[in-house]
Amino acid sequence: MTGGLRQGLTSYGDDDFSLFLRKAFIKAMGYSDDALARPIVGITNTYSDFNPCHGNVPALIEAVKRGVMLAGAMPMVFPTISIHESFAYPTSMFLRNLMAMDTEEMIRALPVDSVVLIGGCDKTTPAQVMAMASADKPAIVLPVGPMLVGHFRGEVLGACTDCRRLWGEFRGGRISEADIEVANERLVPSVGTCGVMGTASTIACMVEALGIALPGSASIPATHADRVRIAEATGKRAAEMTKGGPKPSEILTRDAFRNAIVMLQAIGGSTNGVVHLSAIAGRTTSPIALEDFDEIGRKTPVLVDLKPTGEHYMEHFHQAGGVPRLMQELKDLLALGAKHVMGGTLGDAIKKFEDVPGQTVIRPRANPLRKEGGIAILRGNLAPRGAVIKQGAASSKLMQHEGRAVVFDSVADMTKRIDDPALDVTEDDILVMRNAGPIGAPGMPEAGYLPIPKKLAQKGIKDMVRMSDARMSGTAFGTIVLHIAPEAASGGPLALVKNGDRIRLDVNARRIDLLVDDAELKKRRAAWQAPPVPEVAQRGYARLYREHVQQADEGCDFDFLARSGPASS
Ligand code: FES
Repeated sequence: MTGGLRQGLTSYGDDDFSLFLRKAFIKAMGYSDDALARPIVGITNTYSDFNPCHGNVPALIEAVKRGVMLAGAMPMVFPTISIHESFAYPTSMFLRNLMAMDTEEMIRALPVDSVVLIGGCDKTTPAQVMAMASADKPAIVLPVGPMLVGHFRGEVLGACTDCRRLWGEFRGGRISEADIEVANERLVPSVGTCGVMGTASTIACMVEALGIALPGSASIPATHADRVRIAEATGKRAAEMTKGGPKPSEILTRDAFRNAIVMLQAIGGSTNGVVHLSAIAGRTTSPIALEDFDEIGRKTPVLVDLKPTGEHYMEHFHQAGGVPRLMQELKDLLALGAKHVMGGTLGDAIKKFEDVPGQTVIRPRANPLRKEGGIAILRGNLAPRGAVIKQGAASSKLMQHEGRAVVFDSVADMTKRIDDPALDVTEDDILVMRNAGPIGAPGMPEAGYLPIPKKLAQKGIKDMVRMSDARMSGTAFGTIVLHIAPEAASGGPLALVKNGDRIRLDVNARRIDLLVDDAELKKRRAAWQAPPVPEVAQRGYARLYREHVQQADEGCDFDFLARSGPASS
């Protein structure tokens, strides 16, 4: 036997001694020789007191272990870092690649024959899938599942779309301080990931479409018994995978990535899905291009009616049949022959599904929410390497809009001035924020959801065109252009915009242009100076990040972790 405890021996120049030593130490935990002779299933532990989205992880670990043992293998739990959106300074995205490195290196270092990756909060699952793609040991993903809905004054609530909506109401003076405090206690009523089609749910659905998680695993609520049962089933499958895989490299193919893009578009998913899928694909031999998202989006309808673009919540999506039911509507757009972690094909995996009479969450193809997918890719002289807009969450009257630029030089500048009564701004202007990209902020924070200036919000203005090199939470909405690449901090054209310049957005034509002539732009470029490197980025991980992070169109992975080679389109 070469697997199990005998693999990846610590180097002392004598393999037999290395194994002898390893067994001596592990026996301190009370394992028998029988247990230690079994194939080993590693289980990532991403529980943290700072990650309430992962609050059910201990119960899931126990269920995975049970499944592994029922199938005759040996479960071994190991920790990795855990990232929660609200507890990661400066941003969770800054730490995604660190988690990917941590996870990859632990999978490589430990004597595991297969791995169960338990994750959910926005950046954790992408980090884990990036890691599994690079480590290329048999692996299966187990999402922690979405939280339950909350209730406030007769309304159904879900984090975090309703967090933003209610905060907007409070800023506009339509909700009292006492009420916003009550809402604060109701918005997150249970453990689990955000209950709308935000980034976590988007990634969980895409993971199912990639074929690296069991069918149905994206939508079962975090607190349901079925969530524990699917954890046990995942453990069982992981044990089977110790005897011949499949490996991630067999599953994460071009077909799988295209299936994930179909899913992203059909669920009206988060723009963060573009960044993370690009990073995952960039770890494989099948990288994808931004144009793949646009090309697939043009023929994929939005069928799922969930917040932030629709009406319902993840709990309801689950009750309506979840991803396997949705895929029945999308069969002609999916590569059903793509290999699946269950051993067969995606087509085999979704044969079993629940058809719920009268449900209104998953629309039939004949009655889509939108004929085209939720996300469009823009290019133009303001975004030569691309930008993203969630057209499904935008105001249709602003999809073609020309306006005067009101420029903010950084997130801090925007925060300081956005509510200044003296700010020269009207509802027809375009709010521009820069130096909030991968290098600029650093970590490309979810600051792209620029608030409506207070004086306009108080007049009832709910949307304006806003643009930046930042990202936006998948739970947010509005006519917002994001991920402008190259970013301002690396000298992208966004750095050259001045207050009062005219900008034209034309989503139908997929264009975003700064209406300033080339000679003037050349002059501005000659005068441009890169922002100074902050002290915090002079050493350590921040320095590594700054020196190696790629731009948004490549997924913001580190250049030395991504595989080299052109994207597919
Ligand atoms: Fe964890 Fe939203 S904060 S999924």
